[in-house]
Amino acid sequence: MTKQINIRPRAAVKVPASTANLGPGFDTLGMALNLFAWIEMKPSSETQIHLYGDEMNDIPCDKSNLIYKVAQTVFAEAGVAVPELEISMYSDIPLARGLGSSAAAIIGGMVCANALIGNPLSQDRIFTLATALEKHPDNVGASLFGGIVVTVWNGERAEHIRLEPHPALEVLAAIPEFHLETEKARHVLPQSVSMQDAVFNVSHSSLLVAALASGKLPLIRQAMKDKLHQPYRAALVPGMKAILENATEYGALGVALSGAGPTLLALVDGQGVHKVQLEQFLLDTLQREGITAATLRLKPNAEGAVVLPEPAQQSFMELVKGEMGV
Ligand code: HSE
Repeated sequence: MTKQINIRPRAAVKVPASTANLGPGFDTLGMALNLFAWIEMKPSSETQIHLYGDEMNDIPCDKSNLIYKVAQTVFAEAGVAVPELEISMYSDIPLARGLGSSAAAIIGGMVCANALIGNPLSQDRIFTLATALEKHPDNVGASLFGGIVVTVWNGERAEHIRLEPHPALEVLAAIPEFHLETEKARHVLPQSVSMQDAVFNVSHSSLLVAALASGKLPLIRQAMKDKLHQPYRAALVPGMKAILENATEYGALGVALSGAGPTLLALVDGQGVHKVQLEQFLLDTLQREGITAATLRLKPNAEGAVVLPEPAQQSFMELVKGEMGV
């Protein structure tokens, strides 16, 4: 039976992009980035979905929209009926580039729907519901909790521990122009791996977590290596092999494919002086393979998904522009 509870007139959420795996932590490690999407929801007499930002043309604006669907998952879980919604979304997160755009939509949609009905679901419950949809907890965990997350999914329940990113840790992302669907990048992975490769990843992923947790940033260079997914995905991202092998020579602390790609993500020490040189190396290497890319200098985001204070009589885009300071 559905309950009549305190449904608010409007709720709005800011949710960060994320990078998954960080090299060896396949389907396990994630980090939130300061690149955002904003979502607003209002109960309505008829469902309407307004999408703002680049690359939104192919996203459905009816009840098959992912944000609408995850909102309904939250309402069903809470035993509340809000069948018709007005949803607005603006996103700066590039789609299908390995920066967690779908995880941000899922988390943003769930957190916003939960706020609209007075927050009956805990963050942990939202994490589990979101992971059940994504099938891996790394991106959704980072978008929800912020910082660096170490996550586990046992098929029923998602668990996490959040680490505070080191204050000097920054990110340089090289984002190719082409899209790579996660499904395609998972399809190239083998069904089984050798014991030797499994041990390689357990040891490197463990060392990486310890290095990030203890602030021993120079260890990242050795720790951020992977044998479970990157070697198989290299053929999908020309130039990736050379970048993984050589980026540390140009000042990166470590480098990895961001999630399922195609973005390549270098961790850098913000106090170091190598960013321009590294940026050029990333762009030149991709360009030699005929790949046009853009770079973004990013920082870890510490907050995760944030419910915005009850907005005044502002339109959604006024709210977003106010948030962006434009
Ligand atoms: N851990 C996932 C993968 C992230 O590498 O396939 C993709 O979103």
